[in-house]
Amino acid sequence: MTAPLDIIIMAAGKGTRMKSRHPKVLQKLAGRALLQHVLHTAGQLQARSAVVITGHGAAEVEAATTKGAGAGAGFDLRFVRQEPQLGTGHAVQQAVPALAGDGMAVILSGDVPLTQADTLQDLLRAAGSDKMALLTVAMPDPTGYGRIVRNDAGTVQRIVEQKDANDTERAITEIYSGIMAVPVKHLTPWLAKLSNNNAQGEYYLTDIVAMAVTDGVPVVGHRISDVLQVAGVNSPLQLAELERAHQLRAARALMEQGVRLADPARFDLRDDARGMPAQLVCGQDVDIDVGCIFTGKVSIGDGAQIGAHCHISNASIAAGAVIHPFTHIDGEKLGASVGEGALIGPFARLRPGAQLGREVHIGNFVEVKNSTLADGAKANHLAYLGDATVGERVNYGAGSITANYDGANKHRTVIEADVHIGSNCVLVAPVTIGAGGTVGGGSTITKNTLPGALSVARGKQVSIANWARPAKKTSS
Ligand code: UD1
Ligand code: CA
Repeated sequence: MTAPLDIIIMAAGKGTRMKSRHPKVLQKLAGRALLQHVLHTAGQLQARSAVVITGHGAAEVEAATTKGAGAGAGFDLRFVRQEPQLGTGHAVQQAVPALAGDGMAVILSGDVPLTQADTLQDLLRAAGSDKMALLTVAMPDPTGYGRIVRNDAGTVQRIVEQKDANDTERAITEIYSGIMAVPVKHLTPWLAKLSNNNAQGEYYLTDIVAMAVTDGVPVVGHRISDVLQVAGVNSPLQLAELERAHQLRAARALMEQGVRLADPARFDLRDDARGMPAQLVCGQDVDIDVGCIFTGKVSIGDGAQIGAHCHISNASIAAGAVIHPFTHIDGEKLGASVGEGALIGPFARLRPGAQLGREVHIGNFVEVKNSTLADGAKANHLAYLGDATVGERVNYGAGSITANYDGANKHRTVIEADVHIGSNCVLVAPVTIGAGGTVGGGSTITKNTLPGALSVARGKQVSIANWARPAKKTSS
């Protein structure tokens, strides 16, 4: 029988080196706040509760975290404030009164986003029901970190911080990751004994390791080799480095499923701006060229091809579709869908509610919003389709638009099957173009048209024969 699990997340620090107006733990990696990554991982551990310690920008952190608290699902999420910030030991001291006292605590940092749940499970197994377990890693350059001091038998004795370490201790390459598992019942007495009599004048959480040893509580150093899992974010450079590492992992996972990425180093998958978790599901023989960004929930069917530099968000691309370079597809809440064998782009824009059937062609500089295009419909150049229902095989000419907005309300345009809309037409909604009809180029259509009819609504052409152009007067 394992003890109930409580998560403590330290997130009160300022993050001075980010030089941002916003708290560090709200900086985003793969479109998700650093703290949300940590909460997401915590959510995979069957924890009973999570306590987030806030300080700098506390209100902003709490508001953002509660709002995105889909990630907090599964456990009771609470916040405690640490003001002022007197060190990591002082931080955890603020959290302990919020815990039940009978559990095992895992202490995490809000700025270490890439720890994997299975690593924490292993750490918890190492801690069992009554031990302290420290997550450690050997670093070629351990500068700045707390060092794990072991005795000759290899048993962990204490942690010494960089600034308090002597030369021998600084030569130790095994560092404390900042992550530990510890029985909550010991925390209260140990934290009460902390002093700030050290190089930084802070209450170090790491001093409780020596107290555990003194009290005969076994301390296990659980060493992993994957430095990324314990890497923290302190600067924009480190944030970008972790972003790349994270994206490379996502890219590799897709490639292992058979997705062909032209370059795994030029691939991005992110949560969308509304917090929809990143999820890219691909069929067989999908090709994705360089520089594509996928956000939110995207699915790509068998044999589909995504050209270079496309941004695709909350959309489904059916089998065999070809998305040419520089296409922007954002389904937002409504979603967007591209039918089988459709050809989209280059430079096309599909907005929320764009639903394209099979073999639809959408060419350059064509914008489609909240519109359904039936199988085989085409809009190849420079056009706008908003709030439209477009029938099968419709051909929608260059420069044509649906005038869907009267300044107050949106109206629908219905273009029935086999209609041919010439170039530069304005279809003033609400309006229906009857099946098989033709609209002459340059027409502004304000009334419904009959099936099969040719409709022309433009100024009549006037040609004046032998017209002489004005000539410049010559001075005498
Ligand atoms: C800490 C560890 C060090 C370890 C390193 C790993 C201590 C004393 N040292 O050092 O052994 O190698 O992490 O990255 O614990 N925080 C608060 N309140 C505070 C101070 C910090 O919430 O008063 C939070 C910070 O926001 C951050 C985390 O605690 O999320 C770690 O704090 P930081 O100052 O970065 O600790 P380090 O000096 O790096
Ligand atoms: Ca740190």
